[in-house]
Amino acid sequence: MIRLVFGILVLFAIFRFPTIESRSHHPSAYSGIEFPALNCRKHKAVITDFGGVGDGKTSNTKAFRTALSKLSDLASDGGAQLVVPPGKWLTGSFNLTSHFTLFIQKGATILASQDESEWPVVAPLPSYGKGRDGTGTGRFNSLISGTNLTDVVITGNNGTINGQGQYWWDKFKKKQFNLTRPYMIELLFSQNIQISNITLVDSPSWHIHPVYCNNVIVKSITIIAPVDVPNTDGINPDSCTNTLIEDCYIVSGDDCIAVKSGWDEYGIKFGMPTQQLSIRRLTCISPKSAGVALGSEMSGGIKDVRIEDVTLINTESSVRIKTAAGRGAYVKDIYARRFTMKTMKYVFWMSGNYNQHPDEGYDPKALPEVSNINFSDMTAENVTMSASLAGIDKDPFTGICISNVNITLSAKPKEVQWNCTDVAGVTSRVKPEPCSLLPEKKTEGKNMDCMFPSDLIPIESVVLKKCSL
Ligand SMILES: *[C@@H]1O[C@H](CO)[C@@H](O)[C@H](O)[C@H]1NC(C)=O
Ligand SMILES: *[C@@H]1O[C@H](CO)[C@@H](O)[C@H](O)[C@H]1NC(C)=O
Ligand SMILES: *[C@@H]1O[C@H](CO)[C@@H](O)[C@H](O)[C@H]1NC(C)=O
Ligand SMILES: *[C@@H]1O[C@H](CO)[C@@H](O)[C@H](O)[C@H]1NC(C)=O
Ligand SMILES: *[C@@H]1O[C@H](CO)[C@@H](O)[C@H](O)[C@H]1NC(C)=O
Ligand SMILES: *[C@@H]1O[C@H](CO)[C@@H](O)[C@H](O)[C@H]1NC(C)=O
Ligand SMILES: *[C@@H]1O[C@H](CO)[C@@H](O)[C@H](O)[C@H]1NC(C)=O
Ligand SMILES: *[C@@H]1O[C@H](CO)[C@@H](O)[C@H](O)[C@H]1NC(C)=O
Ligand SMILES: *[C@@H]1O[C@H](CO)[C@@H](O)[C@H](O)[C@H]1NC(C)=O
Repeated sequence: MIRLVFGILVLFAIFRFPTIESRSHHPSAYSGIEFPALNCRKHKAVITDFGGVGDGKTSNTKAFRTALSKLSDLASDGGAQLVVPPGKWLTGSFNLTSHFTLFIQKGATILASQDESEWPVVAPLPSYGKGRDGTGTGRFNSLISGTNLTDVVITGNNGTINGQGQYWWDKFKKKQFNLTRPYMIELLFSQNIQISNITLVDSPSWHIHPVYCNNVIVKSITIIAPVDVPNTDGINPDSCTNTLIEDCYIVSGDDCIAVKSGWDEYGIKFGMPTQQLSIRRLTCISPKSAGVALGSEMSGGIKDVRIEDVTLINTESSVRIKTAAGRGAYVKDIYARRFTMKTMKYVFWMSGNYNQHPDEGYDPKALPEVSNINFSDMTAENVTMSASLAGIDKDPFTGICISNVNITLSAKPKEVQWNCTDVAGVTSRVKPEPCSLLPEKKTEGKNMDCMFPSDLIPIESVVLKKCSL
């Protein structure tokens, strides 16, 4: 026994060395790591090359900004990859560059600074007109940000970005900001984006926000925030075309995924939809919000969204449509299938009265069109209310199709299980029995299935290259 314990101790002593060794930032410590990416890079650097210190206390804001400024010169010469090795790297906001890879190694944590002077103030998004936090027009630039970029990869072998959100949540709750809180990762007007294999925790507000982007892959991401803190949405594709979100695990105080496209008169004027969006293999826990929300800001339109193979646990609702008079545009051609749910307040939830407006300048006559919503093949257990479906007076939500859904109720369910107003559509094999506005439909005496597209959106066919550190 003693010999065995001694042996284990000796083994420990031997194997601790490589671990310690890897903490020195010598390239050999990580050169073996392979990872899939949109593109591999010719040039390689480590944050310590730019004076970075990973002690969790020293500010690396200057190191990151210098690194990005130097590495941006290599964008036209095969691009660059910046490694963040094990350690705790405190930093304020910095901007990325094109043809660039940020690789956050396992054991590395990028810690967001709580010093507001390390966060530049930027203008509101043109499609929102105002900061989203409802205070003033300015907003803090996001922690990791970029505008007008192409070919950007943010990845790792499960390294972490920690937003240290407590400071921002507390100050927000006390209404002490006149600026909108920063997001964790935000890319604007960019294309060919990959965000993968990292863990994001405790963002001050939303975690991942691609806005006005094309060709976006978000893959194998873990996002964890307390379930009772404000606006910590997981992933928010906003006025983007051709986006794939897959294999993500999200626990959050707000929607796990919120699909958006601008706010009232500003969003209508900007007119950029979110379209061609595929979300698959999502696991979500969000007791106060939705698995996937469509809106509430949807004034550029949302169309062609496919959502499949989703697991929801202790979540307020599955797919929730949020809109209001004043939003204009549309939410249409939405497909969702193969959901497994447990402990839900609602399974289906549509709200046509989400009356949050940027200012008094919205047009109450700008009515959204909500149509062609297809849900199929779902089970839900321990449900309080099957469906709350509220369209808009004189602007009903139409073309709702729900098939093959089995819902079992909680110990204290709502008496009315389906409450439908201003909606129209059909159902087939749905339990408990739907409302009269969604009657059972049979085609030529046969059961009907609500269709899901059989084609792919272009980004689903992209094959990543094999790169290495
Ligand atoms: C990052 O980009 C924003 C918006 O373009 C800009 O205001 C800010 O100054 C940039 N930050 C740095 C460190 O260059
Ligand atoms: C992005 O590109 C637009 C259009 O070319 C330009 O007006 C804007 O200044 C650019 N912004 C940044 C931060 O590069
Ligand atoms: C990325 O995550 C996937 C799924 O969890 C995993 O199979 C793959 O090995 C990870 N890649 C790296 C480089 O860690
Ligand atoms: C990545 O790290 C997080 C946090 O430590 C952990 O919960 C998750 O399971 C890890 N994911 C993978 C694929 O190893
Ligand atoms: C915003 O707040 C800061 C500090 O709290 C203050 O100095 C500034 O005047 C405020 N700006 C506006 C527009 O209210
Ligand atoms: C069922 O849902 C209720 C909330 O409605 C929750 O308190 C309870 O723990 C859940 N039961 C199970 C077995 O998950
Ligand atoms: C719903 O229950 C019926 C009857 O038990 C079953 O045939 C069907 O496969 C179930 N649907 C799902 C999505 O599990
Ligand atoms: C049904 O929904 C309508 C419209 O949202 C609401 O006014 C009403 O109170 C709801 N009824 C029940 C029983 O939940
Ligand atoms: C939804 O499914 C129904 C029934 O198969 C089909 O008629 C309808 O076209 C589908 N909607 C969309 C938007 O594909």
